[in-house]
Amino acid sequence: MFSTKNLSPRQLAAFTAGILSVPIAIGIAALTRDWRVGLGSLIVVFPGSYGLIIFTLERFIYRKIKLIYKLIYQTKATKKEEVYFKYILPQKSIDEVREDVEAWGEKRNREIESLRKNEAYRKEFLQNLSHEFKTPIFAIQGYVDTLLGGAMDEEKIRKKFLENTAKNVDRLVNLVNDLDEISRLESGEQLLYKQNFVIQDLIREVYDSLSIKMQDKNIKTSIKKGCEAPVTVFADKEKVKQVLINLVENASKYGKQQGTIVASIYKTDDQHVLIEISDDGIGIEGEHLDRIFERFYRTDAARSRDKGGTGLGLAICKHIIEAHGQSIHVRSTPDVGTTIGFTLESRRD
Ligand SMILES: Nc1ncnc2c1ncn2[C@@H]1O[C@H](COP(=O)(O)OP(=O)(O)O)[C@@H](O)[C@H]1O
Ligand SMILES: [Mg+2]
Repeated sequence: MFSTKNLSPRQLAAFTAGILSVPIAIGIAALTRDWRVGLGSLIVVFPGSYGLIIFTLERFIYRKIKLIYKLIYQTKATKKEEVYFKYILPQKSIDEVREDVEAWGEKRNREIESLRKNEAYRKEFLQNLSHEFKTPIFAIQGYVDTLLGGAMDEEKIRKKFLENTAKNVDRLVNLVNDLDEISRLESGEQLLYKQNFVIQDLIREVYDSLSIKMQDKNIKTSIKKGCEAPVTVFADKEKVKQVLINLVENASKYGKQQGTIVASIYKTDDQHVLIEISDDGIGIEGEHLDRIFERFYRTDAARSRDKGGTGLGLAICKHIIEAHGQSIHVRSTPDVGTTIGFTLESRRD
């Protein structure tokens, strides 16, 4: 459909000049009864009114629009933009101008939205951080003050308080190490050194390295029956080891006395291997499942048991697995157990 809304200023001027000059020319031709005079007046009136309209549009409207463009692009007019303002902008219809401005507005909105999100995230992160630091620092302060205040003289108390202090210092060290790790992962400056390796060997290595830690709980670790046949994956071995350590440590921390930890390995297709670490521990309530991969997120059960965790372990695991272009997920039933699984790329030749 023909619509005057979509005309550029020049077309609009021509259109209006036509509307003005044609009836005038017809009128004059009718009055003088001479079509040549009519034609002559058309030749004079049309360009005259066209010029006048263009001049008015230029002067009073287009200049304002140009100003808006300069404002929304927030730039000083460079050579290129001068060309744009001179030749391209005048071709645009008011509708197109409106679309440009709307697009600009939307872009701005998106920018503001993402800034707002970052700001909220930053605030929350700082809050969490100071909270996580406060607990061990205040504890250390308490023990040291009490020791200095006289408790030092009693051999038994001294030892106990120093042990507690050491535990809290360890916790601070863990926290700083985890923070260091996660900030390095988030800055994306860490490269992956991928290689082929047998995943079962790495799992056994992790079981061995954690066996002393798991001794007092008497937890049994194993690889699921039927999953023993060596499966080779292509990944960053050190990073995957870190993931496995995190998962096995969690399984034992949140596991029962005499519990079991089982690793299973499946080739899901030609390109993927699924690795799962299952325990028969306290499990996770459904409401927390979506959130345990968030930084600092810990369930109430985990907090009250307080095993000195930082709440950063699973966030680090997720980062590492996603850096590999793979995924990590959780299944859990309270009081039955938890399974955390992640995929890796199959061997590459
Ligand atoms: N195997 C598991 N069984 C029960 N809860 C778990 C298990 N693994 C993780 N969680 C829950 O997820 C939370 C986040 O885990 P993580 O990031 O490793 O932190 P952390 O181990 O330092 O507490 C834990 O605090 C705990 O509440
Ligand atoms: Mg952990």
